[in-house]
Amino acid sequence: MQQKIIILDFGSQTTQLIGRRVRELDTFCEILPYNKFPKDDPSVIGVILSGSPFSVYDKEAFRIDLSEIRGKYPVLGICYGAQFMSYALGGKVEPAGTREYGRARLESFERENPLFKGFDDHSQVWMSHGDTITALPEGFRVIASTDKVVNAAYQAEGEKLWGVQFHPEVFHSVQGTLLLKNFVVDICGGRQDWSAASFVDTTVAELKEQLGDDRVILGLSGGVDSSVAAVLLNKAIGSNLTCIFVDHGMLRKNEFRDVMHDYECLGLNVIGVDASAKFFKDLEGVTDPEQKRKIIGRDFVEVFNTEAKKITGAKWLAQGTIYPDRIESLNITGKVIKSHHNVGGLPEEMHLQLCEPLKWLFKDEVRRVGRQMGMPEHLITRHPFPGPGLAVRILGDITPEKVRILQDADDIYIRGLRDYKVRLSGEEARKVLAAGVPATMTDGEIEVSLYDQIWQAGTVLLSTVRSVGVMGDERTYEHPVALRAVTSTDAMTADWAHLPYDFMAKVSNEIINKVKGVNRVCYDISSKPPSTIEWE
Ligand code: XMP
Repeated sequence: MQQKIIILDFGSQTTQLIGRRVRELDTFCEILPYNKFPKDDPSVIGVILSGSPFSVYDKEAFRIDLSEIRGKYPVLGICYGAQFMSYALGGKVEPAGTREYGRARLESFERENPLFKGFDDHSQVWMSHGDTITALPEGFRVIASTDKVVNAAYQAEGEKLWGVQFHPEVFHSVQGTLLLKNFVVDICGGRQDWSAASFVDTTVAELKEQLGDDRVILGLSGGVDSSVAAVLLNKAIGSNLTCIFVDHGMLRKNEFRDVMHDYECLGLNVIGVDASAKFFKDLEGVTDPEQKRKIIGRDFVEVFNTEAKKITGAKWLAQGTIYPDRIESLNITGKVIKSHHNVGGLPEEMHLQLCEPLKWLFKDEVRRVGRQMGMPEHLITRHPFPGPGLAVRILGDITPEKVRILQDADDIYIRGLRDYKVRLSGEEARKVLAAGVPATMTDGEIEVSLYDQIWQAGTVLLSTVRSVGVMGDERTYEHPVALRAVTSTDAMTADWAHLPYDFMAKVSNEIINKVKGVNRVCYDISSKPPSTIEWE
């Protein structure tokens, strides 16, 4: 049976990160809303309570009945999780004099406590809290303190129940992963058998069982998630899988041709549909961003459905939905998370059931699974790309000529990012490797392309703007393009990438010299929030 750690989400921004860290230990975990603990699930081996935006004494604070877990599983409370257990069991939690945010050191800790096995003296931890535990419940003892926080960690005497005020899941808690390993592996007995190879084996077997001889349809986008889902399904059911890849005319330069070629090399049964004429016609004269998105969404469903209906006897619709797309708990504090699935609204009369083989995976795990199945690196490391494609990167109305200009400029930019190599060492190198970027460490250094170092890059055609330039002896009056490159882990927040000046100079030169219709290049230095990654 697949063992699992349950992470109960009280709404903290770092809950997903706890999940990622546990998965990095190759132990399976599920993040569930704080009030959805699976009482009768025999595969649960331990429980982690996350942080929260609330104070324990807030009226609307999330609370649970601790008797469901206390004494039944090992429990670790993090920040609010620790405060809540302490408060609920008779301790005292009060507002700290000042909100403590940032690095701190464990000035003392119980060396023999299994939670701190292998910890160094003065280990650095990351604090982010406005409340502090001022008195522990009876029978609890303090097991670590910082200079400002006496009860930085506690354990219930004789019980497998711990609380930590700091955030072990955050990168700046230097031995945070060790603490989680101590909890998950040593205390809970996690087997560390969750690997890409075991995932592929188990999932292929499950898909065979689930799907039998049924026919399955899958919409491919050229992106990592749908491609990995297709290859997994292909392994399980072969030609019973039919993939549909729609070209709406607003993909990157040569993307439809290149990706179709990749898919064919992977042995996938793909129908490529060039529907660009329809999309261009329906978008003619439309300038409003929302309107563009609606038209593209509607046309996409129409084209996809027409093709899907031709596949007789299909019983399933497969999608490359991944875990962050659906973590229900993200909505517990009422925040609306982007929805970005482009295949939807299939005709009801087809009665298709949904098959989502990647629904438990984080993005980096999807990439590991893709590599495990031997997929080409350029497919696996592709940046995310919006469903409506270049249509949301052309300000103003869309014409085939504008798309051509943007494709040419973007191609120079993206090729440049792939070709430009940087050497990294120390923490920077570690961060890049931890994100799954393919690179080998030699003499403490790695070499990676700019492309692999960033989350996403693209070019925007400001076709509603014209500016004057001079080329040779001629005056020009043409459009600018804006280059965008961001670093991120989930696209929910993003920072603009600090690209090297010599790289920007070279790309700008090449675009202006080679792309007719562009005479100025700008670089977008806005972060998200308050901006978004895409311009429209
Ligand atoms: P924003 O612009 O909201 O984008 O910061 C966040 C991430 O989502 C991608 N994006 C989309 N992806 N269909 C998609 O599949 C869409 O309609 C869509 N709009 C934005 C965007 O590229 C970024 O990665």
